[in-house]
Amino acid sequence: MPLVFFAKAPSNIALIKYMGKKDAARNLPENASVSMTLDALCSVVELEVVPGQGLASQGSAEWRPEAPARSVGRAIQVPDLGEAGIGKVLRHLERTRAAARELLPRFGIALRDCEAGEKWVLRSGNTFPQASGIASSASSFAALTLAGSAACAADRASFERAWAGEAGLRSALAAVSRVGSGSSCRSLDGPWVRWQGEEVSTIRSSLPPLAHFVLLVSREAKQVSSSQAHALVKGSPLWPGRPLRADARAERIAEAIARGALGEVARLAWQDAWEMHSLFHTAEEPFSYWEPGSLRVLRALAPALREDRPPIVTLDAGPNVHVSVEASRAAEWEPRLSALGFELLRDGQGAGGRLI
Ligand code: PMV
Repeated sequence: MPLVFFAKAPSNIALIKYMGKKDAARNLPENASVSMTLDALCSVVELEVVPGQGLASQGSAEWRPEAPARSVGRAIQVPDLGEAGIGKVLRHLERTRAAARELLPRFGIALRDCEAGEKWVLRSGNTFPQASGIASSASSFAALTLAGSAACAADRASFERAWAGEAGLRSALAAVSRVGSGSSCRSLDGPWVRWQGEEVSTIRSSLPPLAHFVLLVSREAKQVSSSQAHALVKGSPLWPGRPLRADARAERIAEAIARGALGEVARLAWQDAWEMHSLFHTAEEPFSYWEPGSLRVLRALAPALREDRPPIVTLDAGPNVHVSVEASRAAEWEPRLSALGFELLRDGQGAGGRLI
């Protein structure tokens, strides 16, 4: 029987944004961030262990542009990674393999006896289209980290038990995922996650379950990558003090989430999204992700922030607007958001990565 591992990890949306790196090689952030893990907007990875063919080149891996052979209930699209993207993915798989072989025994998970010459064949895809403006790096690197770690375990059941029961294992693998793609470290757990320095942990919440909508303002590929943005923001006159402000906001939002204070969460998220985009707009080499439609949606939603139970509105490094509302009021919000004239993606909150 061929050994195959399937992992799923959702995308996450930061309410307090990670922006600016302290250490670019290890993706260490300048400030704490807080995010909500999504559910069905996710990446799926299939990792097939192909037995050795008598070759001594243990550890080789290959990416195949094919959809994983497991359904998650939504259509899966295979991304066009390009040579650089494939290289990044395969390097991360090697990093994961090395880290997992050291980490798993610490959590009582025996290692699989990897055969010399065995090859890892990787297939991956996303439930959101490549050009939908939803970053796939967070979900795909999280799913990759999970599949790669599981493939190092002697026994899948003991890996799954530890994954479900040991927050320490999830957070140790989040640190591995972070090196491949910063914000992916928040996609392994959920629904509320805080990341500060090397530490990733969940936040206790008294908020009601939330529904999540993405207003697809534009499907154009972005001109400035998030890696470039992390460097460029430091040239803004608003940069001094930003890490401290964001840390303080992360503290306050975690506390508001724990209290179930939806209005406060919505106001802090709104402020932080505007602050991050203000850094972009005021950088020495200014740039913007906003399209006219982004501003139109933000202006239309601004008055709702004064409502009793306001929507949480935010934008990542892109033009699309993310809106989270109480799940019990999703049917009321959906036509309100549709009336703004953009295609909507729908999702809810999730618990993070898992083997499927
Ligand atoms: O993980 P990166 O390097 O793609 O950075 C993500 C940055 C934002 O999405 C803009 C904010 C965040 O915290 O997710």
